[in-house]
Amino acid sequence: MQITASSKRNILITSALPYASGSLHLGHFVEHSQSDIWARLLRARGHEVKFLCADDAHGTPIMLNAEKQGMTPEAMVDAIREEHWRDLQAFGISYDHYHSTHSPENQALVSEIYLKLKAAGHIESKVVEQYFDPEKSMFLPDRFVKGTCPKCGTEDQYSDGCESCGSTYDSTEIINPISVVSGATPVMKESKHLFVNLKNFEPMLKTWVDSGSLQEEVSNKLAEWFEAGLQSWDISRDAPYFGFQIPEEEGKYFYVWMDAPVGYLACLKYVCEQNGEEFAPWIDPNTEHEMYHFIGKDILYFHSLFWPAMLQGANMKLPNAVYVHGFLTVNGTKMSKSRGTFIKASTYLEHLNPDYLRYYYAAKLSDGLVDIDLNMEDFRQRVNSDLVGKVVNIASRCAGFIKKKFNSTLSTELHNTELYAEFLSHSEEIAQLFEARKYNAAIRQIMALADKANQYIADMAPWVAIKDENKQEEVHQVCSTGINLFRVLMSWLAPVIPFTASKAETFLNVELNDWYAINEPLLSHKINQFKPLISRIEAETLDKIIEQSKQDLEATTSTKKTESNGQLEADPISEEIDFDAFAKVDLRVVKIIDAQHVEKANKLLQLTLDLGGVTKKVFAGIKSAYKPEDLIGKHTVMVANLAPRKMRFGVSEGMVLAAGPGGDDLYILEPHDGAQPGMRVK
Ligand code: 2FM
Ligand code: ZN
Repeated sequence: MQITASSKRNILITSALPYASGSLHLGHFVEHSQSDIWARLLRARGHEVKFLCADDAHGTPIMLNAEKQGMTPEAMVDAIREEHWRDLQAFGISYDHYHSTHSPENQALVSEIYLKLKAAGHIESKVVEQYFDPEKSMFLPDRFVKGTCPKCGTEDQYSDGCESCGSTYDSTEIINPISVVSGATPVMKESKHLFVNLKNFEPMLKTWVDSGSLQEEVSNKLAEWFEAGLQSWDISRDAPYFGFQIPEEEGKYFYVWMDAPVGYLACLKYVCEQNGEEFAPWIDPNTEHEMYHFIGKDILYFHSLFWPAMLQGANMKLPNAVYVHGFLTVNGTKMSKSRGTFIKASTYLEHLNPDYLRYYYAAKLSDGLVDIDLNMEDFRQRVNSDLVGKVVNIASRCAGFIKKKFNSTLSTELHNTELYAEFLSHSEEIAQLFEARKYNAAIRQIMALADKANQYIADMAPWVAIKDENKQEEVHQVCSTGINLFRVLMSWLAPVIPFTASKAETFLNVELNDWYAINEPLLSHKINQFKPLISRIEAETLDKIIEQSKQDLEATTSTKKTESNGQLEADPISEEIDFDAFAKVDLRVVKIIDAQHVEKANKLLQLTLDLGGVTKKVFAGIKSAYKPEDLIGKHTVMVANLAPRKMRFGVSEGMVLAAGPGGDDLYILEPHDGAQPGMRVK
């Protein structure tokens, strides 16, 4: 069905706003590619699309980061926004505009929404007691206070939970708290905070969840949250804070997560003003305008509860859907700086065409929340076999004959109109699969048809027929059919691989940005000289990317050290011990023979360790860095004579050694080959 004026939709599409800190990496591009393919598809289908994003500029970490770099937060977020926008464009992400949440439009809009919520009685205030850094004169978020775990005694734990034993606790319980910002001992201090009463929105949220706007897994997650009871949401932070002042309050700022989603609409408002278009219909609950947010599963709570509540409370239309995707793993595990799989977008771009990655992600992305794995070797083979070996091959096999023998002009008729019609009969289904975000299924169909086109050319063997004087017109028509089939495939793939599509446009001498243009084949049409559109990925290129990413890590680590005058940040050397104390620690090589998730523990895995005949079970806070199955069979080092400790989830009979600041940046120590289970580490 072709778009008529009446079926033309107005569609706002957004991606989650990247924090204005640090560079964009390949993990970010799962989402930017996913949303970009969707936006390009809907544009090609004739709809009016506003595809928008921005940097998420506010918050304590960004404020402190700027201070550390000797810059104002404004200057730092401006510089980072420029870098982000450069990388996004280089990846072909076709945002109509890339804004910042630190903008006058956003300030005006968040203030307006807040005042509407307040007027409708949805804002309440409560006194909150919180850690306060007396040296920096600032309140400290949980992540900025560290101390000793009150449950297991492990030092250097965040004040909201212990990475070693997996306990969560009230920040007031932590022993010997220290401000990560200044090193001072924080004190408890009271302050008034403002809250959005989320309970007021519970009936509306339940209706919204049941309206089919959300994926099934997401609705199930929300049902759990409803079951647990909705808490009021703390939306204020005290000065000093990099953000917007809350109207009608003294020294209170909007919490970054309050103005971040408003940034979607502020960016839209800015664009509408620039284009002389109306903004009002986009937020009017009674218009047909549509709004879709692409996000990762880690920020679901904000987008499925807080954001709809804010919109509803301000009498604005709700999102038509929030589309949630999973995380990226590389070679089967979390991206890791030391393994060189934490790859910055700019590093990738120095070596490879962005279309390769866009294609690989598309071939793996579904409409679900499953994580997708970038397996480097699979990536290489898939791109080489599908894009180079199948799609582009069709054009390269046919183009030479058309140029040399037929004056670069396609025949007046196709040789195989049935095959062309068969291709076209898939066009609507492929569009529907893309629109339903089942990109993997769409790509499977496209590649099956590419196989068919190649088979057709192989069967017709124009390189044989051309030698026969009587078959010249047949060759002309066969090669013209091949070029037309290539055009159909490229038209479908254009949202996925825009750079290659643009080169194909030059070759075909026709645009590929209209989904329906292929309904008419190119006949008696002049084409341009064929130049290879893409080249194969070589294994060495991937090795270089990994190597360079490891060096990127070294560069950041050494800058961090100089920034804090050679001291390792927030991780000082512990108090001295004498040799006797050290000699008491019995370190042994062990083999991990089993690894299991621990139910309800956020950070722990339970490991079964072989010490050379003796087996021990320990809990290790390494869940966010490793999948259990990847650990089995590895050797590591454990403290074998640690007295068994009773923990929340059972008894731990020792500790394994791991290095790193925590989270996914944590690495178990592995001895060199030859070290056997049970050997003492000296
Ligand atoms: O999680 C993040 O990276 C946030 N900066 C996303 C914000 S999305 C939206 F709400 F602005
Ligand atoms: Zn602990």
